Amino acid sequence: MASVMNRVETDTGDWHCLIPLTELAAESVKMLRVNGRQIALFHTTGGIRACDNRCPHEGYPLSEGSFSSDCILTCNWHNWKFNLDTGDNLFGGDRLRTYPLQIRDGDIWIDLTDLPYAERYASIHKSLHEAFDDYSYDRIARETARLIKIGADPLDGSLFLFVNRRRDRLKILHFDGTGFWLYYKRLEAGTFEVLACDDPCVEIDATQLAMLLGGVSLVSAEKRRKRYRRPDRALTTSCHQ
Ligand code: FES
Repeated sequence: MASVMNRVETDTGDWHCLIPLTELAAESVKMLRVNGRQIALFHTTGGIRACDNRCPHEGYPLSEGSFSSDCILTCNWHNWKFNLDTGDNLFGGDRLRTYPLQIRDGDIWIDLTDLPYAERYASIHKSLHEAFDDYSYDRIARETARLIKIGADPLDGSLFLFVNRRRDRLKILHFDGTGFWLYYKRLEAGTFEVLACDDPCVEIDATQLAMLLGGVSLVSAEKRRKRYRRPDRALTTSCHQ
């Protein structure tokens, strides 16, 4: 393991100098500790790639995994597979964090800039939605922990609502002070009519939740709304088209 000290923070990123490209080429894989993070660095026939060294499943070191020439990384613990170009999960569940790299004067540089909060929140929310659809309660727990890590507070009493694409199923995640409740409602007829917007995550208030659960279309209700009133308690709902 090596620690990396050289760092340049600019408007366009938080760049850190890692190791010479020749050093990585000689070993193919390297695990580095950078700014408190463990980074796995790969030298593939398609170029160099970097990702978190800890598998998002159960933390197995991905630098000990295997990778193919088409940049598919396989974790050796439970065989999850990731696309090193995008971080997409190809087999398993959670996405993998990958990082931009550059070569400068023969050295490898990495950009550790985090995505904006809203993007990270939306990504985790989407993953939570998938976890609900897969009935993957371990994944729900992991994504909830990630929400807390980025500064969101799923423990503040808010309800997280997830509506499926057909809009006939609604799931709710709620922390009651001692643990999480999962609620699930499936309609025998009709659909849940949530607010139409481009954002996959919207907030609704308790009145709107009651209307939604009672079969009232929030789309129609919104058209009739005379003026906006700030909700007392935020509820988050997600609807993936
Ligand atoms: S720890 Fe990597 S797949 Fe389980």
